[in-house]
Amino acid sequence: MSLVAEIEALEVATLARVEGLSSDEALEHLRVEVLGRKGALTAILRGLKDVPAGDRPAIGERANAAKRAIEERIEAALAAARAVAESSRLASEVVDVTLPARGWPRGRRHPLLRTMEEAIDIFERMGFEVVESPEIEDDEHNFEALNFPDDHPARDMQDTFLLEDGRLLRTHCTPSQVHVMRARKPPLAVITPGPTYRRDDLDLTHAPMFHQIDCFLVDEQVSFADLKGFLTEFLTAFFGDVAVRFRASFFPFVEPGAEVDIGCALCRGKDAACRVCRGEGWLEILGAGMIHPNVLRAVGYDPEKVSGFAFGLGVERLAMLRHAIDDIRLFTENDLRFLRQF
Ligand code: PHE
Repeated sequence: MSLVAEIEALEVATLARVEGLSSDEALEHLRVEVLGRKGALTAILRGLKDVPAGDRPAIGERANAAKRAIEERIEAALAAARAVAESSRLASEVVDVTLPARGWPRGRRHPLLRTMEEAIDIFERMGFEVVESPEIEDDEHNFEALNFPDDHPARDMQDTFLLEDGRLLRTHCTPSQVHVMRARKPPLAVITPGPTYRRDDLDLTHAPMFHQIDCFLVDEQVSFADLKGFLTEFLTAFFGDVAVRFRASFFPFVEPGAEVDIGCALCRGKDAACRVCRGEGWLEILGAGMIHPNVLRAVGYDPEKVSGFAFGLGVERLAMLRHAIDDIRLFTENDLRFLRQF
């Protein structure tokens, strides 16, 4: 077969093969196989050296023509293949702008956090400063410096989560007083909000983790009247016009000590079956008192020169009273039907 015939046969066969191909890859592959440096056309043209010199230009021209024809056809097929791929991509990405919008679910602040923030906000307006304090404490800060006798029942393992290294999860926020007073000098007006831990079983009104805000003020000549004034101011700001009652009570770290009740906002003392106050008409919300001289001494203050008041309130309690919630477990169950109400 002459070289020209070989070239023509290759051209015809190649053009026919292009028709059957529709992928980029296969077409590129064919281009290399036929026109590449080690391709079929090059192989044919290697025969040129055996052809008389005068015939060579014509054969070369024929080869170039075949090359152009094949290249064009492959280019066209490639363009067609890309167009098909593009239109199927577009079809799969179609956006139906007439569909109804999906909407974004809106989050809410957790009712406990909101209660905490509202209370903190009121204290800050009254001039108190927020200080954070560790949740893991030692016996000295949680009990000893706070004037707990060695045999005080609160020290019992029944009440306190003990860690293996002898430290413990704080059972109240009051140890923060010890940290702050040891680090600084009066006058001090500080609140310390945060979680606290006790080995209570979870029921309607108890949880092994709950939150407190402790508040204390130390200066020269702070009196019980200051305590009553500040507390009443806070409770009125938080609950609105509410009755406040002080009852004598005992905490090792205050003297005198008191528990403070507010009038039940739900039944105002008129419903014997009230699910919030259980007919009592009053609800206990905090412990308070004048900081015990032993505590002042334990932090290096002179009880002859300075005095202070302290109180600690339960945040869950505040939130339950504010919103007439009768089960403390609701705060940690993450039931959206509950959380969405706030
Ligand atoms: N720490 C006490 C408690 O957890 C509350 C309290 C704080 C009482 C400050 C008096 C003074 O119950």
